[in-house]
Amino acid sequence: VTGLSEALGLYVHWPFCARICPYCDFNVYRPKGLEDALFEAVLVDLDRWHALTQGRKLTSLHLGGGTPSLMTAVQIERLIDHAAGLWGFEAGAEIGLEANPKEADRFADFAAAGINRLSIGVQSLDDARLVALGRDHDGAGALAALSAAQAAVDHVSVDLIYALAGQTAADWEAELRRVLSLGVGHVSPYQLTIEARTAYGKRAARGEVLASTDDFAADLYELTDAICDEAGLPAYEISNHARSIADQSTHNTIYWAGGDWIGVGPGAHGRIGRERSGGRRLTEALRRPADYIKAVSDGGLALDEDEILSAGEEASERILMGMRLLAGFDRAELRAATGLDVDADRLRALVETGLVSHIDDRIALTRSGRLLADRVSGELTGE
Ligand SMILES: C[S@@+](CC[C@H](N)C(=O)[O-])C[C@H]1O[C@@H](n2cnc3c(N)ncnc32)[C@H](O)[C@@H]1O
Ligand code: SF4
Repeated sequence: VTGLSEALGLYVHWPFCARICPYCDFNVYRPKGLEDALFEAVLVDLDRWHALTQGRKLTSLHLGGGTPSLMTAVQIERLIDHAAGLWGFEAGAEIGLEANPKEADRFADFAAAGINRLSIGVQSLDDARLVALGRDHDGAGALAALSAAQAAVDHVSVDLIYALAGQTAADWEAELRRVLSLGVGHVSPYQLTIEARTAYGKRAARGEVLASTDDFAADLYELTDAICDEAGLPAYEISNHARSIADQSTHNTIYWAGGDWIGVGPGAHGRIGRERSGGRRLTEALRRPADYIKAVSDGGLALDEDEILSAGEEASERILMGMRLLAGFDRAELRAATGLDVDADRLRALVETGLVSHIDDRIALTRSGRLLADRVSGELTGE
């Protein structure tokens, strides 16, 4: 984990989805014929980012979305080869793709193109719940996609959504146990979040109950933790569980551990620190595919936001992200990166309440602190 603070990740956002799920607040669009132009723009954007980060190799490449499994295997191979030709990959680099179960018949070709980790948007194994979530696959389709993924690559992760209205603890337990029995190395069970700008957000604003109460969701969180522990996939981050260190997501750990990553594609975020002496650079690409394509063809980096974080902003971000990891963050690393330290009084108060642990200069949430992660981390940064 600590070693990844020196890493360089590359995130590529593919913003298209066959249909837009009613709960989803990611930067997503229905495909409207811009796919080929966007793909070429992404390759050009990679060239420009490489010019700013020369001499470093990639620790990871992550194709996220949206639904990057809608890309063809030929596109994915060109993208991986292009990145390999520019930066090159470190030995054992993670090359991951977020996939919708619908595209299971492409997984073997994706693996042949160089993908070595697939995270599958299963969400649920229950047909009625999948309909409620607006998904276009059913439970049988999800299971078939998981076996196709396991046959194709060594590292398979499963995304699940729980704490839906009407879901009982027994329902969720059965579903989670079924997924864990399939032998995957990584699961990401997310509590359903109602995001204001989504279809669910609008329905909830009209009074419809779509999610469990916060208290019941917290019970389900603890149940999730216990079941995953028992199955040998303990949490290493608030919502991420892995069978072994090798099964953890290298790419996501770069975010949590304060490493650098380049963000390419519409709406992608990036953080680049090591090149600069003057602070960490925050970037966010233009969100709309047409704007992004135009900005790339105009010759620029296609950024909507591009700023240098102050030392205080960087320290807060490192604390908030680092606290998500069960291993927490290293205080000496925070000081080395930002010249700032955590507030000793606030830290002492949180350790006394039992929400935070402080051992050998590592600061982390305790199990009870994890349930209140955002609040506790906010108190530590003073925000
Ligand atoms: C980019 S999607 C994964 C790939 C693919 N688009 C799919 O949905 O199959 C990332 C994951 O975030 C989770 N997610 C998205 N919106 C969510 C929400 N409102 N509440 C909880 N989890 C959510 C889902 O589990 C989803 O699989
Ligand atoms: S959950 Fe996945 S498939 Fe659904 S809209 Fe969001 S990114 Fe697209």
